[in-house]
Amino acid sequence: MPKTKSVYICSSCGNETSKWAGRCPTCGEWNTLSEQIVNQNPPERRAAAVKQSQSYGFDELDSAVESRSATGIEELDRVLGGGVVKGSLVLISGDPGIGKSTILLQMCSSLGLNTLYVSGEESPRQLKLRAERLGVNTSNIRVLAQTDVASVCEHIRSCKPELVVVDSIQTMYRDDLSSAPGSVPQVRESAAEFMRVAKDTEIPVFMVGHVNKEGSVAGPKVMEHMVDCVLYFEGERTSDFRILRAIKNRFGSTNEIGVFEMTRTGLRQVSDPSLLFLQGKPENVSGISTVCVMEGSRPIVAEVQALVAQSPFPVPRRVSNGFDYSRLNLLIAVLEKRCGMVFSTSDAYLNVIGGLRLDEPAADLSVAAALASGLKDFIIPADTMLIGEVGLAGEIRAVTSLERRISEAEKLGFRRCVVPARNKLSALKPAIELVPVYTLKDAFNKL
Ligand code: TYD
Ligand code: MG
Repeated sequence: MPKTKSVYICSSCGNETSKWAGRCPTCGEWNTLSEQIVNQNPPERRAAAVKQSQSYGFDELDSAVESRSATGIEELDRVLGGGVVKGSLVLISGDPGIGKSTILLQMCSSLGLNTLYVSGEESPRQLKLRAERLGVNTSNIRVLAQTDVASVCEHIRSCKPELVVVDSIQTMYRDDLSSAPGSVPQVRESAAEFMRVAKDTEIPVFMVGHVNKEGSVAGPKVMEHMVDCVLYFEGERTSDFRILRAIKNRFGSTNEIGVFEMTRTGLRQVSDPSLLFLQGKPENVSGISTVCVMEGSRPIVAEVQALVAQSPFPVPRRVSNGFDYSRLNLLIAVLEKRCGMVFSTSDAYLNVIGGLRLDEPAADLSVAAALASGLKDFIIPADTMLIGEVGLAGEIRAVTSLERRISEAEKLGFRRCVVPARNKLSALKPAIELVPVYTLKDAFNKL
């Protein structure tokens, strides 16, 4: 009999302790520790089980590029780094109802590989109905309604499909573990089992992982280090835009995003997202500006809205949607100190349209301009784009890929672009007017 012992694992940070506590000693979250039984073989038995291992020199290894199968959905290929790699394990996570099952079904159909769709959430009939609604060809897809990991893996090994989809990892369970499906130990061990299958058989496996209330995939640390690629599907419930982002990718860049629109017949790719994000932009209203951020190799133009209103509270409210909250406070402080604007009696709400998240410093100038425009009630001309990073001294700092951003603005019909004077502008030959600025004040004077 192997000896067993209990360890307690935190579902928030993945930390292991030997004693249960109400609060995780590492991350401080309450009620997140759950028990897991581990086998503990005595040392002599472990020594007997030691296997021979072999190491390699780099020149002995085959450096052929991994073979990829393009999915045929360009936006998805971009995020995956060119397509599906053999033997890779991909985790696709997001809020429930965001469209994970939809995109995977569309992908399976468009890839055309022999696919095993393991469904723990929907019955095969429901899946069929969904496929009919999407109008996709499903002749290459077989559905397996099974949640026992051992049976699923056995099925994969015997049927040898060319692609496996597990929807979702939270419904899978191993009966040798005592905890419930969806718990950290179950998710971790099930994912590990799928990883072994993927590596042994060279079959790519896509796993769906739901995000829990705290905003992380159940057992986040537990799965993310194991898989080759973590894709995150995000978007507002109220809007039809969906953004697919790679958080980790062993086979490609993590900067790329894919943009989709949810329609009645499934997800449609949006190959020109800027046009979509600018749709319906209000004119002659204060607090509105446009920004151009680089998402990987692609410039994306979006609208930033700021509403600055008299605050009824002693401490004014700051709300930020799509932009880092502390960066918003930082920009407000810079505007107060360097431009003499007073925000201390006003609430400030910031919103980026289309569910886009601006996490690039080049968006600073545009956000600052929207805030200033909201406070002072001046209008930023609709044909003007603002690009630049704002420093604490109120200076506008140089940004990367300026040329690409300007040409995107040009393409979308903008006529003026406020840019950092510190960027090398002499090399650029744009068809639109460039307004080089050194400081925030300078930028507001020239608007
Ligand atoms: P789904 O892929 O089931 O989400 P997940 O697997 O991430 O939980 O998508 C469900 C939502 O998508 C649902 O609210 C309805 C919407 N939807 C459409 O609008 N059009 C469609 O063609 C499909 C299949 C779903
Ligand atoms: Mg689903």
